[in-house]
Amino acid sequence: MTDRPSFDAHLAAVQAPDGLKTVLEVLAQTCAEISDLVAGGALSGVLGASGAVNVQDEEQKKLDVIANDILTDALLASPVVAGVGSEEMDVTQPAAHATGEYLVMFDPLDGSSNIDINAPVGTIFSVLKGFSPTPTEADFLQPGRRQVAAGYALYGAQTMLVLTTGAGVTGFTLAADGSWVLTHPDIRIPADTKEFAINMSNQRHWAGGVQRYIAACLEGADGPRGKNFNMRWVAAMVADVHRILMRGGVFLYPWDRREPEKAGKLRLMYEGNPMAFLVEQAGGKATLDGVASILDVVPERLHQRIPVALGSANEVDQIAAA
Ligand code: AHG
Ligand code: MN
Ligand code: MN
Repeated sequence: MTDRPSFDAHLAAVQAPDGLKTVLEVLAQTCAEISDLVAGGALSGVLGASGAVNVQDEEQKKLDVIANDILTDALLASPVVAGVGSEEMDVTQPAAHATGEYLVMFDPLDGSSNIDINAPVGTIFSVLKGFSPTPTEADFLQPGRRQVAAGYALYGAQTMLVLTTGAGVTGFTLAADGSWVLTHPDIRIPADTKEFAINMSNQRHWAGGVQRYIAACLEGADGPRGKNFNMRWVAAMVADVHRILMRGGVFLYPWDRREPEKAGKLRLMYEGNPMAFLVEQAGGKATLDGVASILDVVPERLHQRIPVALGSANEVDQIAAA
């Protein structure tokens, strides 16, 4: 091994309140635990359906529930946490103690449809300062711009933790001894790209702007863009966003006509906002439509959905112009 800094050594040097550092330590520790369970797969007894349905009417996998319980228990036990909110829980949960300052929202297992096929999944989290030691849902409904930290764990070929506290984006890799090691000190998204990510099977349901943007990409070097594009879709936002942080690209999950009353598929508070914070901190753009930043949306509900178009800055501008 080289002399790469440990997670703790890195955190000690970060300009952030001690309480926030404690929240990040708890998140790093719990994501390492979830990583072990994911890696064990059938041997951990964690594959398959739980038999229950969550508040969004989605069938929960066993790992959705297990990861949710691990995160909820660890965070609420920490004296610095005032409350938590999760994709897998109908309502926010205040901590039993009255000492916490921080609110944490999470998608405990992102990309659940990948669990049973041994494809990448992740955990996404968003950290806000609270106003009350006994917070209600209203305390959590702050614009993403107010996040004090955000990040994800990617349970892929390697397990990685990618974080921002508002001063750039940093990546850690989980070592064999269970510790996190700094491997990606300053992640930046290239401004230009030739790669897009969208679920093409929904094409006929998209609105005009997305239709035109993707059609131009598909025309490649023969069309108005004058270059050939590549396409990727992992079906786990964590993995798609991670690829964009590593080599650029754009990711779209737009509004579509399948369920027109829904603003999109992805959820603002624990998918859109934390990913938007990371992407902007890495020099990219994270928008609803190519223009308005996700981080400026004033939230109305914990499980609110939003359209997402994020990634390489110049390419996000092309979506807006289409
Ligand atoms: P989750 O597993 O937390 O419900 O999130 C799945 C999301 C996101 O990770 C991914 O980008 C998208 O759903 C995939 O959607 P499709 O199944 O429509 O491709
Ligand atoms: Mn998700
Ligand atoms: Mn999920």
